[in-house]
Amino acid sequence: MKILVTGGTGYIGSHTVVELQAKGHEVIIVDNLSNSSIDVLDNIAKISGKKPLFEKFDLTDPEMTAAFFKLHNDIKAIIHFAAFKAVGESVDYPLMYYRNNLVSLINILQGMIDNNIRDIVFSSSCTVYGQPEQLPAREDTPIQKAASPYGNTKQISEEIISDTSMNANIHAILLRYFNPIGAHETAIIGELPLGVPNCLMPYITQTAIGKRPFLRVWGDDYDTPDGTAIRDYIHVVDLAKAHVIAVERLTEGTGKKNVEIFNLGTGNGFSVMEVIKSFERTSGMKLNYEIKERRAGDIVKVWADTEFANTELGWKAEKTLDEMTSSAWKWELALAKKK
Ligand code: UD1
Repeated sequence: MKILVTGGTGYIGSHTVVELQAKGHEVIIVDNLSNSSIDVLDNIAKISGKKPLFEKFDLTDPEMTAAFFKLHNDIKAIIHFAAFKAVGESVDYPLMYYRNNLVSLINILQGMIDNNIRDIVFSSSCTVYGQPEQLPAREDTPIQKAASPYGNTKQISEEIISDTSMNANIHAILLRYFNPIGAHETAIIGELPLGVPNCLMPYITQTAIGKRPFLRVWGDDYDTPDGTAIRDYIHVVDLAKAHVIAVERLTEGTGKKNVEIFNLGTGNGFSVMEVIKSFERTSGMKLNYEIKERRAGDIVKVWADTEFANTELGWKAEKTLDEMTSSAWKWELALAKKK
């Protein structure tokens, strides 16, 4: 089956391409390389033995997108990752975020309608739940007003897809990711943050390798057992595998509704200190860190109810926190060797 993966040279996209290829699917990637490297294509090929097809253009361009779909008229389904994802940047440049994340989605949906492509998997985020009143967060946990333009693009995108599916032949699976970390076991692909990372895991590994002097732990006075904030970290390869199952569910028509939503997490919450301890355990390193004030906009704790994904998709995250932190460290070491 030929599958279009937008943003396929990115972090989650590249891991998903590898898993799709492992199941025998043909992949065509569209990416504008705004936050990824063309080298990822060769790195994917090193793992899978097959270089995916690739087109570089910007999906916010309606003519280019329409022409792409006309040319590639054998695409059976789409996994749409391509988007901007930095929370702080979205606060500074809201229009850039709305234009990029929403216009590209609209162009893709138009391309699907014009070319009779029915199925799309969409990258959403647990950010839609904000700080849930009840934990774990279920798919029917109420959505809260987004705390950032980035988060809002995820909420609006979910609505755009749902509204479009009401009167067009569009079937969608919206995957709400918790906190993806880690890297492929080969350490040939992984997360490549541009500049100073915002997210915890790359900040930890960059500190350990000496690129950053110390990790700033944002707050240790939260209402949690050790005072640091809690998230549901999930290994990126587990996450990638869920995309393969989701896209096959769509094309096989085994879904129960035209638009289905699944949480992708492990169901376990870990605090920042627990992640640091896991990293120290698996790397044998001592991490420099300092406790700082809480980061504006951070929530206290969130983890997923994974029951629906486990039963309906027949999928379960398998990798432990130690496997996540050790693979992230192996990746950082491999990156250092390349330079
Ligand atoms: C962030 C976004 C979320 C988005 C997700 C995508 C915010 C507020 N939320 O989630 O909307 O969907 O990324 O990946 O930015 N931490 C430190 N020191 C650091 C970095 C992080 O202590 O240098 C802590 C944070 O305070 C938090 C935890 O580590 O408690 C995880 O942070 P992060 O990796 O940035 O993810 P989220 O904030 O959960």
